[in-house]
Amino acid sequence: MRRSAVPRGSLLLPPPLLLLLLLLPAHSTQGYKPVIIVHGLFDGPKQFKTLTHFITKVLHPGTEVSVIDLFDNLASLKPMWRQVRGFRNAVYPIMQKSPDGVHLLCFSQGGLICRALLSTIPDHNVHTFISLSSPQAGQYGDTDYLKWVFPDHMKSTVFHICYNRFGQKVSICDYWNDPHERSRFLQSSSFLALLNGEKPHIGMTAWRENFLRIRKLVLIGGPDDGVITPWQSSHFGFYDRNENIVAMRKQEFYTNDTFGLKTLDARGDVSVCVRAGVQHTSWHSNYTVFNSCIEKWLT
Ligand SMILES: *[C@@H]1O[C@H](CO)[C@@H](O)[C@H](O)[C@H]1NC(C)=O
Ligand SMILES: *[C@@H]1O[C@H](CO)[C@@H](O)[C@H](O)[C@H]1NC(C)=O
Repeated sequence: MRRSAVPRGSLLLPPPLLLLLLLLPAHSTQGYKPVIIVHGLFDGPKQFKTLTHFITKVLHPGTEVSVIDLFDNLASLKPMWRQVRGFRNAVYPIMQKSPDGVHLLCFSQGGLICRALLSTIPDHNVHTFISLSSPQAGQYGDTDYLKWVFPDHMKSTVFHICYNRFGQKVSICDYWNDPHERSRFLQSSSFLALLNGEKPHIGMTAWRENFLRIRKLVLIGGPDDGVITPWQSSHFGFYDRNENIVAMRKQEFYTNDTFGLKTLDARGDVSVCVRAGVQHTSWHSNYTVFNSCIEKWLT
């Protein structure tokens, strides 16, 4: 609120009260940190109008919400690192003009882009990172998306396309995690295995420190998602080689604390929100989800 919003009559008040009136409105409207939204595979800002409405009209009028308009729709298949570079250029200036920090809310594939941003921007000021139904531990499933991108392949054969230098140039290959092809994954993965610290690299310590700058990690997902497979990947669970689920705290990247997850959890800063009855493309427009899993973090 600008100074001009102070009622004219207040000029007649004694100086201390006048000062109070001039200061108060400024403080009460600047309280909410800007929210940056990163979309997922095959979508773009259009799909986030409802969520933006929830935040700016229902919850905290005046909150600055930026839905980054990059790599929309088909362009979301571009290599993950290329997208990370693009999103960094869009997101960094918003961080710079937000001295109190920002919140990052990232959907599906966008959750991995955001994790890469958090790992590689040394001076980011993300307060809360909300990962909304994101395949954080990877993806391995026969879904409509997969059929559409690779019509001639089933989950069991996709590794042939994905696990080589050319395959890694398609976003979904960058986080394709075939539990039966572990060594090929570790050999070829130029994105997820690095992000998870499953494949040691020179930047590991720095990435871990950068990631740990966040104050809170919020992981949202659920069993009726229909796209994220296994759905537990939305909170860092994943298949073992027999396709049984290994929970987050039993994952090696957790026990070895390769990228900071265990530290974050020990700090009490990992919050998991599981909701049934939500299909993949409904997460960001479901008010119950917003109300019970997201709202309280947007301070
Ligand atoms: C975890 O640590 C063990 C023992 O040092 C090592 O053999 C293993 O490769 C590590 N795994 C990951 C994912 O870092
Ligand atoms: C919205 O979310 C709730 C659970 O939080 C779920 O029961 C309901 O089915 C969802 N509705 C839609 C349309 O996704």
